[in-house]
Amino acid sequence: MIKTEYYKDLTKMNTFGMKVKARCFMEYDSVADLVDIEFSELARPVLHIGGGSNLLFTDDFKGTVLHSKINFIEILDDNLCDTDPSPCSPDSSCHSERSEESFPPVLVSVGSGVVFDDFCDWAAKEGLWGVENLSYIPGEVGASAVQNIGAYGVEVKDVVHKVYCYDTLEEEFVSFGVDECGYGYRDSIFKKPEIRGRYVVTHVVFTLSRNPQPKLDYGHLKDAVDAAGGDLTPALIRKVIIKIRKEKLPEPSVVGSAGSFFKNPVVPMEQFIRIETEAKAEFGSDYKVPHYDLPDGMVKIPAAWMIEQCGWKGRRSGGAAVWEKQPLVIVNYTGEAYPEEIVGLERRIISSVKEKFGVELHPEVDHI
Ligand code: EPU
Repeated sequence: MIKTEYYKDLTKMNTFGMKVKARCFMEYDSVADLVDIEFSELARPVLHIGGGSNLLFTDDFKGTVLHSKINFIEILDDNLCDTDPSPCSPDSSCHSERSEESFPPVLVSVGSGVVFDDFCDWAAKEGLWGVENLSYIPGEVGASAVQNIGAYGVEVKDVVHKVYCYDTLEEEFVSFGVDECGYGYRDSIFKKPEIRGRYVVTHVVFTLSRNPQPKLDYGHLKDAVDAAGGDLTPALIRKVIIKIRKEKLPEPSVVGSAGSFFKNPVVPMEQFIRIETEAKAEFGSDYKVPHYDLPDGMVKIPAAWMIEQCGWKGRRSGGAAVWEKQPLVIVNYTGEAYPEEIVGLERRIISSVKEKFGVELHPEVDHI
């Protein structure tokens, strides 16, 4: 069924809590509904939203906002590689690492409108490994595959098998294998300007596993899991991740935000060395700038560290603020912040980081 509303209040449909309206809002709850939507006749621009957790509405939306309520989670036959009804061969890539004792991969088809954390919760209860580190990330399954969400050493691309879409241009259903999705850091082909908006994700098939495969290398995650005690299960890791996230990040239902506002910048090694030399001059020769070496001689520096060094942590500006426990997050502190206040704070943070470190921060959040 398709539900259409005009001048729809979007305050509850964006986690930043911006008080904006959409000229037209359409919500559908089945894959078949998409065929009935006349995409070429919709008020433009057309924006497809998920949980509204990674966007900042800067004004009322003058076109059409679409939202999927396709809600299902279904385990596919273990012997099938996807929804194509042909059994995969025993040596196909999805089965190639299977040893005698181990379980075959479990393919799970999930509707684009499922809340991503509900999927993580379901997987943990089923004892399925793969998405436990992604627990408690706001947003929905369709958007997760577009944004390549990530946390605690796992990105959604690590478990995506296929992304199923409706091609609004050719008016046909298509699918993209994980290697065709062009996944990068919070990036995919679905975000490329020439493609953006063309494909509407209907469902995603994930490869999960009954074989234990804990990923605990990120920061102090292993210590936290050890401290929690108990059997190492997806449910235990999920519990620990939720605790860590709740300690550091604002509770979406209480304080509006879009999670990390900026991407972590990647700089050439020489630039990192310059930044660290200056930090050592300021804080002493033992000081180490947090960073992650990337394979190609580049270095990723946490934007949170840079923003904190520029003195922004916990600072307020009108209704907006930099979150005191994780400065990568800009929040709607009062619940009444105007988009201009968020954008104003964003600009000032970018310019002070640029001035101090010579590094240009880029928002992770989409400005609409
Ligand atoms: N840091 C500081 N000061 C702080 C907080 C952090 O200097 O107040 C530095 C520390 O060095 C810390 C490092 O930043 O070790 C990394 O912090 P954190 O582990 O919180 O990760 P992040 O790089 O800030 C990324 C993702 C988050 C994800 C976490 C955990 C991006 C843009 N953000 O943040 O994703 O939850 O890792 O994996 O990559 C999101 O995308 O919305 C999001 C929350």
